[in-house]
Amino acid sequence: MSFQFAVFQDKTGISESAAYRFIALFHQTKGLFRVALAGGSTPTLLYTLLAEPRCRDSVDWTRIHLFFGDERAVAPDALDSNYRTAHETLLSKVPLPAENIHRLRGESADLDSEASRYEAEIRTLFRGETVPSFNLVLLGMGADGHCASLFPHKASLSVHNRLVTPAEPGLHPFVPRLTFTYPLLNMAKQTLFLVSGADKAETLVQVLEGEPRPLDLPAQAVQPIHGKVTWLLDKSAARQLSR
Ligand code: 6PG
Repeated sequence: MSFQFAVFQDKTGISESAAYRFIALFHQTKGLFRVALAGGSTPTLLYTLLAEPRCRDSVDWTRIHLFFGDERAVAPDALDSNYRTAHETLLSKVPLPAENIHRLRGESADLDSEASRYEAEIRTLFRGETVPSFNLVLLGMGADGHCASLFPHKASLSVHNRLVTPAEPGLHPFVPRLTFTYPLLNMAKQTLFLVSGADKAETLVQVLEGEPRPLDLPAQAVQPIHGKVTWLLDKSAARQLSR
């Protein structure tokens, strides 16, 4: 598995590095900068940093489009909503045009139709690229080795004919999900995993240094065809790595 990683003292170090990389990648990108946000709790400090004036004012938000790599089947104002988290920490604090925020409608009564709608929305912005290639995909990793809402041994791992799919949950919150599929994730130009905490250490060493077993450890199968994967880790999460 080819990847780069960087280890920081704590989540603050991870988040500052991720914010710097976000801004650097933006300035290296001509035209639209299209990003898929991660859910969960780890990225919230990154989102908060991006909304601070020194970061906020260093990019042109009219060129940035934000998508969601996954979402829970809850209302956008529900505590478990990835959109709600991003809205509170970032989206409501930066001059991002409303049309540049691409929300996955977790509240939809028909998740299969919403997955298709969202795929069409992605394809529209990527002007018909056969498989859209995000400039940046942000991901976290669960202690079970999942990423986005691709959980071990779930059917969503085998969906290769769609870019977005409904998914069964594997961890709290146990609500149905919507998620990017591997074909979309693996077309990204740059993928950043943000992983923090001792509870991830055992899984992380298996994902990065163990035998390939992506059905057990879905994060292992995030291997973009042309892009780079960089793992931003804190010392607690990285403590079992051999290098
Ligand atoms: C979600 C996330 C999920 C998350 C991991 C890690 O919707 O839950 O997309 O994949 O990134 O579960 O979550 P933490 O960062 O909270 O540990």
